[in-house]
Amino acid sequence: MPLMARFKISLILLGLAALSRSIFIPPTLTGPLPIGVVSYELNNTSIDPVRDLMVSIYYPASEEKCKNYTLAPNFSPVFATWTDGWLGVPNGSDATMIQRAYDSPPIDNSQYPILFFSPGYGNSRLFYNGAAQDIASNGYIVVSMDHPNDTDFTVYPDGRTASYAENDTQPLEAYTPFMLKRASDIIFILDHLEENAHKAIPGLEEPFDTSKVGVLGHSLGGATASQVMANDTRFIAGINMDGSVPPPAETYNLTSPFLMLASQGHGIYEGDPSWTTFWESLAGWKHALRVNQTVHHHYSDTLFLQLELRPDGFPANDGLLNGTYMFELESAYVVDFFDLWFKGGKGELFEGPSAKWPEVIFDG
Ligand SMILES: *[C@@H]1O[C@H](CO)[C@@H](O)[C@H](O)[C@H]1NC(C)=O
Ligand SMILES: *[C@@H]1O[C@H](CO)[C@@H](O)[C@H](O)[C@H]1NC(C)=O
Ligand SMILES: *[C@@H]1O[C@H](CO)[C@@H](O)[C@H](O)[C@H]1NC(C)=O
Ligand SMILES: *[C@@H]1O[C@H](CO)[C@@H](O)[C@H](O)[C@H]1NC(C)=O
Ligand SMILES: *[C@@H]1O[C@H](CO)[C@@H](O)[C@H](O)[C@H]1NC(C)=O
Ligand SMILES: *[C@@H]1O[C@H](CO)[C@@H](O)[C@H](O)[C@H]1NC(C)=O
Ligand SMILES: *[C@@H]1O[C@H](CO)[C@@H](O)[C@H](O)[C@H]1NC(C)=O
Ligand SMILES: *[C@@H]1O[C@H](CO)[C@@H](O)[C@H](O)[C@H]1NC(C)=O
Ligand SMILES: *[C@@H]1O[C@H](CO)[C@@H](O)[C@H](O)[C@H]1NC(C)=O
Ligand SMILES: *[C@@H]1O[C@H](CO)[C@@H](O)[C@H](O)[C@H]1NC(C)=O
Repeated sequence: MPLMARFKISLILLGLAALSRSIFIPPTLTGPLPIGVVSYELNNTSIDPVRDLMVSIYYPASEEKCKNYTLAPNFSPVFATWTDGWLGVPNGSDATMIQRAYDSPPIDNSQYPILFFSPGYGNSRLFYNGAAQDIASNGYIVVSMDHPNDTDFTVYPDGRTASYAENDTQPLEAYTPFMLKRASDIIFILDHLEENAHKAIPGLEEPFDTSKVGVLGHSLGGATASQVMANDTRFIAGINMDGSVPPPAETYNLTSPFLMLASQGHGIYEGDPSWTTFWESLAGWKHALRVNQTVHHHYSDTLFLQLELRPDGFPANDGLLNGTYMFELESAYVVDFFDLWFKGGKGELFEGPSAKWPEVIFDG
């Protein structure tokens, strides 16, 4: 079965009340920079059918300027209630989650590289807020998006909502049209930011350098990263976090740097032919790493949310890495990879197994 499905356990929670304290996501930022977030709608009615995108942008902001701003809630009230139902936690639980990012402060105008972050099939961009903040705090602008007719539930600024009923049990090639549309969404957002970033981000003085950007994603979002790179040479480096690669993307023979980051059972020669073919087709700098004691959704915030919000403490995760540690591990490898290609970093974590992160196994 392709690695598309999310990890969900049904649970009857009668009479359990939601927590009343606020919970930070992520618990601490892995990078030194304070960050801001803006969300906006990018509706292009000249595309048929209309692609009505919701976009979030995380960016470094100065500590001084953040003082007058409040921390952003993780979810809007309507989305929080929907997520409570989806995760099977008491109503009101997700509303307690608060971000480390401030809501719309002025940006720090140093030039930071831009990374696009595509969610898993059916998943909201908001289920990657934790990971996106960690990466941004290390000196990146991180742009995430809901892909219409794919994301299960989207809330627009005017209160409209859009729903989609995902089907996780189709053959891998059924996801190709989704992947192609996702790639065109990302290219569209990049084109849009080239001219219009100052409309979305407070205090932006210089246009973004959109000539060289990075791309990463989870699950189908990871396959989307390779699709975007095949489509558009402005995307110079990419990461696929645990996503099977639908045809024809598994044979694009990408020559740009690419990192495959997998869960425990998803080795390049273990049961996912698309993962093997894709690995063998990569013609540039490449590594295939696997993180022991993880499953597919360890690359999504839903792990952390379930561990924090489920009244039973999420026993299905026993013996596996916890959400706090996973944020740190994921951010370490993602940032080291992009630092190598955008900031002249040394890429030390890719030289071999690390004593600091013993769960990371080098498959290739
Ligand atoms: C965006 O497109 C959708 C779908 O056609 C439409 O319902 C909505 O009103 C549009 N929103 C704006 C702000 O143009
Ligand atoms: C909408 O998309 C089309 C096709 O990609 C593009 O030519 C046009 O400029 C876009 N319009 C806006 C308002 O972004
Ligand atoms: C914060 O807001 C106060 C009151 O509006 C203003 O005087 C001050 O200059 C602001 N500080 C910053 C750093 O923007
Ligand atoms: C869930 O809580 C929200 C407020 O937090 C309330 O508006 C809504 O009616 C509640 N839904 C259910 C199903 O209890
Ligand atoms: C949604 O996606 C499916 C599969 O790609 C496609 O058949 C359908 O036309 C799309 N619907 C809209 C409204 O975009
Ligand atoms: C999901 O896709 C499979 C395979 O194409 C199909 O058999 C099944 O009926 C679909 N499920 C739904 C709910 O559409
Ligand atoms: C990306 O490449 C695919 C396969 O060659 C093609 O079908 C698609 O139209 C391209 N998309 C864009 C936005 O260029
Ligand atoms: C990738 O390389 C394989 C093996 O050399 C070749 O068969 C295939 O056509 C190549 N794909 C592309 C898109 O060039
Ligand atoms: C993976 O984790 C299990 C459980 O802690 C351990 O027994 C096993 O040795 C680990 N495998 C590797 C390759 O580190
Ligand atoms: C998470 O896991 C790490 C590494 O195993 C451990 O040091 C830490 O105490 C755990 N944190 C929580 C909140 O369980």
